[in-house]
Amino acid sequence: MTTRRSFLKQAGAVAVTAAFPKQVLPNTLVTETIPIAVSSANGVAAVSKAIEMIRGGKDALEAVIAGVNIVEDDPNDNSVGYGGLPNEDGVVELDAAVMHGPTHRAGAVASLRNIKNPSKVARLVMERTDHVLLVGEGALRFAKAHGFKEEDLLTDSSREIWLRWKEKRTDDDWLPEYDEKTRGIGRLIESHPRQTGTIHCSALDLRGNISCVTTTSGLSFKIPGRVGDSPIIGAGLYVDNEVGSAGSTGRGEANLVNCSSVMVVEFMRQGKSPEQACLEICKRIADHNKMARLRMDDGRPNFNVKFYALNKKGEFGAACITNDLKEGEPMYTAHDGKTTKLRPMAYLYKK
Ligand code: GLY
Repeated sequence: MTTRRSFLKQAGAVAVTAAFPKQVLPNTLVTETIPIAVSSANGVAAVSKAIEMIRGGKDALEAVIAGVNIVEDDPNDNSVGYGGLPNEDGVVELDAAVMHGPTHRAGAVASLRNIKNPSKVARLVMERTDHVLLVGEGALRFAKAHGFKEEDLLTDSSREIWLRWKEKRTDDDWLPEYDEKTRGIGRLIESHPRQTGTIHCSALDLRGNISCVTTTSGLSFKIPGRVGDSPIIGAGLYVDNEVGSAGSTGRGEANLVNCSSVMVVEFMRQGKSPEQACLEICKRIADHNKMARLRMDDGRPNFNVKFYALNKKGEFGAACITNDLKEGEPMYTAHDGKTTKLRPMAYLYKK
């Protein structure tokens, strides 16, 4: 029989264990884990770079940031960094966050203008402040204090795309007053949404440590100051070093109201595989999606959200809500310990 006294002793023992979790010293090669990385479809170069660095002994966080820097610097990817599509005023505003599994620290910046590598600034927020998130003018001043140089992030190509949108402007994010009877049906978002492209990258390094990064120019032609899920810890990315890591691309608003990435990690903690965990959050988002303007006639979401996950055992997977948004077969990037390649991802709703 468990007496009150013995129960308290057991509870105390649990508390002591929880207070002193298993530690992996940052510079000690405890195990030779096979390196694994997952990313969005635009992450082939990023994953290749991250794995090369991990094989060279680097920590997963340093590796994934170096990986996504390639895409932030690329003028031809208009969803991230330099060349990213601007807000409705024609100004590029970037969001990014990083999370370091072994120390469970995070850093993020939002609505950062004129600095093409927001993921590097996010890492400095983590390492050189006692804060997690800096936004707008404060984030820019912090970046400049650390030696980042301001530059115009709008390329001719992204300016042309913005100009075409501005000339037609059939879709923006301003809504009329909410009508309870129609649940917002008076303002249908087009079923082919504006771009919410982004890059996420998670990796497991040789020490068995996990870290991740998400970086984006956010929703194209957004209302200035709009912040999506990417720089929000738990929404656009999350790591628990003892469980796994997850991140997302797609409609950030859906992840903000569902705390999606932390949920994917929690589903993995409950025993779901990375792919099952990603599908589970897609189902949760669809179940919570009540607004008529965000639903198709059959009730399915009229937007897409994609998830990428890996766990401590080195398993990985990805899933999205649908393959039905004229984007072609949904794909993601993964390195499985041998090769880096694009793979088809699971989805909740079939075309
Ligand atoms: N997922 C990127 C964004 O919504 O900003």
